[in-house]
Amino acid sequence: MLQRLLERVEKAGELDRASDPLQRRVRATLPRRLKDLLHGVGLGHPLHPVAVQLPVGAWMSTAVLDALPGTESAATVLVGVGTAAALPAVASGATDWSELSREQRRVGLVHAAANTVALGLYAGSFVARLSGNHRLGRTLGYTGLAAAGLGAYVGGHLSFRQGAAVNQAEPYLRQIDEGWHDLYAWNELTEGRPEVARIGEVPVLVTRIGDRVTVIMEHCAHQTGPLGDGEITEIGGAACVVCPWHGSTFRLVDGAVVRGPSANDQPVLRSRVVEGRVQASLP
Ligand code: FES
Repeated sequence: MLQRLLERVEKAGELDRASDPLQRRVRATLPRRLKDLLHGVGLGHPLHPVAVQLPVGAWMSTAVLDALPGTESAATVLVGVGTAAALPAVASGATDWSELSREQRRVGLVHAAANTVALGLYAGSFVARLSGNHRLGRTLGYTGLAAAGLGAYVGGHLSFRQGAAVNQAEPYLRQIDEGWHDLYAWNELTEGRPEVARIGEVPVLVTRIGDRVTVIMEHCAHQTGPLGDGEITEIGGAACVVCPWHGSTFRLVDGAVVRGPSANDQPVLRSRVVEGRVQASLP
């Protein structure tokens, strides 16, 4: 039933009246470097799933302590730690959310609402415990855990059903056959200017850099934007391609992401030059 409900949320266009202005506000508020940090650029995958571990762990542990006698002080500390630790999780989640598609953002709103309720209940639980009302603190804590559980379920739908924040380029690797594939003649390539080639149906970006060649997936790891249409820029002395859809920026030499919103690197293929022909194979 929850699944069907979430499928209806995906199509609920009326949520965009709240979602679109909120998205604009989140995007405009944060400086780029902070956004990259919150997306998880440099981490290898998004920061948000890492950031939620501490609040969830603290709150789960509180639920266990609350079932045992004589643990009021420890439970109060854990609720406080979990509630404070939720703030970075909220910031990273909101930053990722602001770069999702419309359908994903609708479900993301429900995920955020459930977790905001959980956070409010845990904040109330902390205050109640500090004032000595541990019975109320426990009740609010267990209710908060239920709300956080609902939020986690919706987050699972967002990640695993809708593919939010996963590496969208990776599945295309599985469409490439084993073995070496002929792409270009070496002398057809211009230094630092990527060309798009196809391996079967899969587009790849081929770049000549000095006396070597690199081949990365052409579909952007964020949401499959066409990197072949992206601008070439230089960051830290390295040639990079900027995705034309949301601006994720990848180093051409190794596919590493240097600017978000993608937190995932661009998959790189093995490459070689044989008798003047550039070839690529699965990594
Ligand atoms: S598709 Fe979003 S940055 Fe490339």
